[in-house]
Amino acid sequence: MKIYTQSCALIGLIAIALIAPAAAQPQQGTNVTIRADRPGAVINKNVYGQFSEHLGTGIYEGIYVGENSPIPNTRGFRNDVVAALKELKVPMVRWPGGCFADYYHWRDGIGPKDKRPARINGWGNVTDKNSFGTNEFFDFIDLIGADAYVNANVGSGTPQEAAEWLEYMTGDQDTALVKERRANGREKPWKVSIYAIGNETWGCGGNMRPEYYADLYNQYSTFMRAPHDARPEMLASGDHDARTDFTTALMKNARAGLDAISFHYYTILGPKWENKDTAISFSEAGWINTLSQTLKIEGFIKKHETLMSAIEAKTQAQKPQAERKKIGFYIDEWGTWYKPEPGTNPGFLVQQNTLRDAIVAAANFNIFHKYADRVRMTSIAQTVNVLQAMVLTDGPKMLLTPTYHVFHMYKPFQDATSLPVEIKTGTYTYGKWTVPQVSASAARTKDGSIVIGLANLDPHKPAQVSAIITGMRAGHIKGEILTADTMDAHNTFDKPEEIHPVVFDGAKLVGNKLTLSLPPKSVVVLSAQ
Ligand code: AHR
Repeated sequence: MKIYTQSCALIGLIAIALIAPAAAQPQQGTNVTIRADRPGAVINKNVYGQFSEHLGTGIYEGIYVGENSPIPNTRGFRNDVVAALKELKVPMVRWPGGCFADYYHWRDGIGPKDKRPARINGWGNVTDKNSFGTNEFFDFIDLIGADAYVNANVGSGTPQEAAEWLEYMTGDQDTALVKERRANGREKPWKVSIYAIGNETWGCGGNMRPEYYADLYNQYSTFMRAPHDARPEMLASGDHDARTDFTTALMKNARAGLDAISFHYYTILGPKWENKDTAISFSEAGWINTLSQTLKIEGFIKKHETLMSAIEAKTQAQKPQAERKKIGFYIDEWGTWYKPEPGTNPGFLVQQNTLRDAIVAAANFNIFHKYADRVRMTSIAQTVNVLQAMVLTDGPKMLLTPTYHVFHMYKPFQDATSLPVEIKTGTYTYGKWTVPQVSASAARTKDGSIVIGLANLDPHKPAQVSAIITGMRAGHIKGEILTADTMDAHNTFDKPEEIHPVVFDGAKLVGNKLTLSLPPKSVVVLSAQ
């Protein structure tokens, strides 16, 4: 592994100084206090979840190539992609959509593959032969070691269809559906961790009003049956962007079991949905605009947190403390959405992935950690070949994206305890946009070490970071960095290692005082023990 040392950073600084002396001056220092003495909520590992939809080559080609493919596979699943995702410790996969979920009839995807019906998939107007169905989904997540989040069809389905799917998956008695599952090769029930009732019901999931969907949610939820100890969390389809009316209606009207409400937010240039950047070869305006857009998610989370807490305080006031529950706010679609790559089917949503996406991922994680008690699950859109992907494939070739690398660097945060971070940092301004220079979060892992995630959003200037870790004296510190010379650094099938993390030994820890120079446009994850 390469090592990124202070001298590397210095050489970089000197080089920048020679070209543009003004840009080499560090900004005002960044002062951070990490409150290890005031631990917060556990960061549920499911915050690092993935979304895999029947969209473009997200499943077929990207994950599943079939047993007869020349691409090395296990029961049809690409060995390279499975190995990469296993290494990422993916905790949970959401499937089969997205908008696709409301077209999907689960019976199309069970039984002998040659008997399964082919259907048109509206994403890209292509045929889905249904050779990846329920059994294959569970086989795939078993291979990578993840849990299941299954999204039921509300838009074109019925409560009966959704209830029967849940019974087919989780039933443990000798019912007709369980016998059918056994006949299809699966004796034991599968574990469904989350069962979602619809998707984007304000749009592709049925264009509904919040009150109408809230009633529908109650109706569906009333009829879902699973063995008592295998009941999944029930997830309602919620808002997007600045909207809060679905969350409000659901929180006020939920009668049947409601464990969490979903939320979607895509990072686009805006202000109109159509205004999207290119994934590579973008300008500095595209860099900062994207980062400033992605940071808006914190305002949306806060708004929902306030709203949900206020409604919970009223509706649960009569309950004893132990019976009160905090409904989850699950961000099950997030990430960047750019123009499709030239020459690809526009419905396939194929996009390259650069250092900018890496910073987006780190900044989002740093925000999610702060709201760990409410944001207990997220799934980035999407795992392979679609939108802000971890992995891109082209025939037998595969590459890991900068976003993959950030997920990998942030692995220690899974199930660690979030620590409050107080931060005073300068700003980075370009054109009409201004963003904080540094984004940060911290947590205490189960083995007692402190993990710190940092991102420098400024593409030109290093940030001089001084941090105090209150309530902890650490002996040594180690770290990793992801950075590159250009804002749109990315991996290609010919050069798959252009950008990858290297050891970062630029942080100094004396007692509980940490100092480092955080290079421009970088993500650093440190671990102090
Ligand atoms: O992730 C792509 C699509 O974006 C999903 O299918 C849909 O839910 C959202 O609009």
